[in-house]
Amino acid sequence: MSQHKNADENATAAAARQLLGARYGDADIRIGVPDFNETVATVLSHRSVRAFTPQALREGTLALLVAAAQSAPTSSNLQVWSVIAVEEAERKARLAKLARNQQQINEAPLLLVFLSDLSRLSRVAAAKTERIEGLEYLDTALMGFIDAALAAQNVVTVAESLGLGTVYIGALRNHPEAVAAELALPSLAAPAFGLAIGHPDPARPTAVKPRLPQSTVLHRETYGTAEEPAAIKRYDEVLQGFQLSQSLAPQPWSSQAVNRLSGPESLSRRDRLREALRTLGFALR
Ligand SMILES: Cc1cc2nc3c(=O)[nH]c(=O)nc-3n(C[C@H](O)[C@H](O)[C@H](O)COP(=O)(O)O)c2cc1C
Repeated sequence: MSQHKNADENATAAAARQLLGARYGDADIRIGVPDFNETVATVLSHRSVRAFTPQALREGTLALLVAAAQSAPTSSNLQVWSVIAVEEAERKARLAKLARNQQQINEAPLLLVFLSDLSRLSRVAAAKTERIEGLEYLDTALMGFIDAALAAQNVVTVAESLGLGTVYIGALRNHPEAVAAELALPSLAAPAFGLAIGHPDPARPTAVKPRLPQSTVLHRETYGTAEEPAAIKRYDEVLQGFQLSQSLAPQPWSSQAVNRLSGPESLSRRDRLREALRTLGFALR
């Protein structure tokens, strides 16, 4: 009996080590894992999927995913987000064009577009013939974007636990007004990002992408950068190894990250997001 228990514990520890090793690109990772279960395994196994089979989602899956989204915490229970489920091929194709022609949008049977949505509360207030000035502030718009992100990440976790694959589509913010027009959004609703969902194509598998060493993101009590340069140098090497293993051109993470944000021209038109949000009805005071 205790032999079985030991064998189970060893298998669990090995599974945890394997997942953490992949997450940090370090087979010798030393992170003690006091607790491990299927949820932990699902979260640690995350990888974005950009290749889908044409297989439709099962009846009822959309409703389950939205229930998962609505189970996320929401600022002051205001629930200032919404989601649009896009399944029509032509509409997905038009949205893909607005998002740098990303083919995974066309391949996925379902595209969820998450919105920061203050419009519902403006209607609620109007029905009471009351004015709610709070909708005009940056923080309220931010609440919508934060709530939308939390809701979407619950969808990702549940979808992955069901064997589905997902990829976020931040590029929907490249042309927010055009996306809003395509989805017939009311004033005070703005696209935060898309989430393409479908069955991963086994012929085009993806791997877990390693993250920065924990010492770079975890600060204890106060912020510190003493270990940062060495950790980032190490991560530059780890990520290049990962890129080579995926037949991608190797480029250090630090260079990639700096190039991605080097100037307004590298932001894929998102340098004008404030102006776009104002056009969509957000005052952002
Ligand atoms: C808000 C957000 C927007 C993203 N937008 C895109 C996108 O437009 N296209 C894409 O292929 N991946 C997109 N991604 C996926 C990231 O590139 C990916 O999460 C990151 O490279 C880490 O890889 P992983 O998810 O496989 O671990 C986005 C991720 C987030 C969180």
